[in-house]
Amino acid sequence: MLPFPVRRIREGKAIIFIPDVEVDEPTKAPVFYNPRMKMNRDSAILAVSTLHRRYGRLLSLCEPMCGTGVRGIRLALEAEGVGEVVMGDLNPLAVELAERNINLNGVSNRVRVRLLEANLLLSLHDRPYGRFDYVDVDPFGSPIPFIDSAIRSCRDGGLLALTATDMPPLCGLYPEVCLRRYGGLPLRTDYCHEVALRLLAGSLVREAARHDVAATPLFSYAADHYIRLYALLEEGARKADKRLSDLGYLLHCPNCLHRAASHEYPSSRACPRCGSKMMLGGPLWLGSLSDPDFCSEMLQMARGRMDLDSRLPRIIRLSMEEAALPPTFYHIDVICSRLGLSSLPTELVVSALREAGYRASRTHIHGRGVKTEASIAELEEVLRGIEYER
Ligand SMILES: C[S@@+](CC[C@H](N)C(=O)[O-])C[C@H]1O[C@@H](n2cnc3c(N)ncnc32)[C@H](O)[C@@H]1O
Ligand SMILES: [Zn+2]
Repeated sequence: MLPFPVRRIREGKAIIFIPDVEVDEPTKAPVFYNPRMKMNRDSAILAVSTLHRRYGRLLSLCEPMCGTGVRGIRLALEAEGVGEVVMGDLNPLAVELAERNINLNGVSNRVRVRLLEANLLLSLHDRPYGRFDYVDVDPFGSPIPFIDSAIRSCRDGGLLALTATDMPPLCGLYPEVCLRRYGGLPLRTDYCHEVALRLLAGSLVREAARHDVAATPLFSYAADHYIRLYALLEEGARKADKRLSDLGYLLHCPNCLHRAASHEYPSSRACPRCGSKMMLGGPLWLGSLSDPDFCSEMLQMARGRMDLDSRLPRIIRLSMEEAALPPTFYHIDVICSRLGLSSLPTELVVSALREAGYRASRTHIHGRGVKTEASIAELEEVLRGIEYER
């Protein structure tokens, strides 16, 4: 018997019992359930279905921090090719509720839940025991304490999904916490959420390399109050070295907004444009945050699924567009206001940049963000040109 009342909700194809208690935030409930994370779970369904299409065999999944079990149950009901789901939680009430939810949804033949600490559960599935094709780490705050065992419990060619909700350190409010957790410095800038994704990806690439495993981001996004990364894990020392070579630093000038990426530790912090001291971010991942082929397959999976969060297809589409562009973006309003220009539509700026011969795209992270290979000076010239012609 659960020591709290429950009520039923529907999410996707699952019906889930959740605690029926008044709390000011989900973490205070006896078992955690956050309806605002539905899109995060929707994205997991698309990613696992895509993985299945690639391998064409039944997949084994692990969700070591499952709460009500909604994610694992939805994966069993909605993703293609799910053979088994092993869920876990260290909260006995969560495990009991998840068990009830497994039975309610009739998936007890494929989904089970264990009362275990996440690192312990994952370590039980380290080599030579059955490793997983997909591991989904969805903790309170940072996934860092679970990354090592998650990597070890993933098969060669497996997919690791990480959620991070510790945005204040990742976005530069507590740089020392970020350095300690993620091994890199954040940047308190307009594009701090992209830097956050790059710090998480950088951390994963380094952790994986310690095991001669290459981690490659396949789909990453920032939304609401969290970031999410899906990365392919492949065994191989040479490949792991190659990923390490995509780590580096970002320099940002707070005075003129010039920015630069460097694979080496920068020898000077002086801004080449205005001479001010630039801010330093990293080491972090400078490579692509998303793989257009994987994303395009995810998009196909999303087709016709009206029950998915309507923002998700757009996020995936934009991640594909921005994948090959430089590792930061410009905030148009900030730049226009510095130039004394009226605000310009994002699409217009992107097409003007393209007409001027620069690669450019919108970004999923910010509606007023533009990614481009143009320098800040070149962008300013394009913005002035648009204003002049209007
Ligand atoms: C953010 S919630 C998970 C939500 C769930 N994945 C979902 O999609 O609804 C985090 C869960 O991790 C559990 N947890 C926290 N630390 C843990 C640990 N070290 N090992 C296992 N479970 C843990 C908490 O009890 C909580 O249920
Ligand atoms: Zn400068």
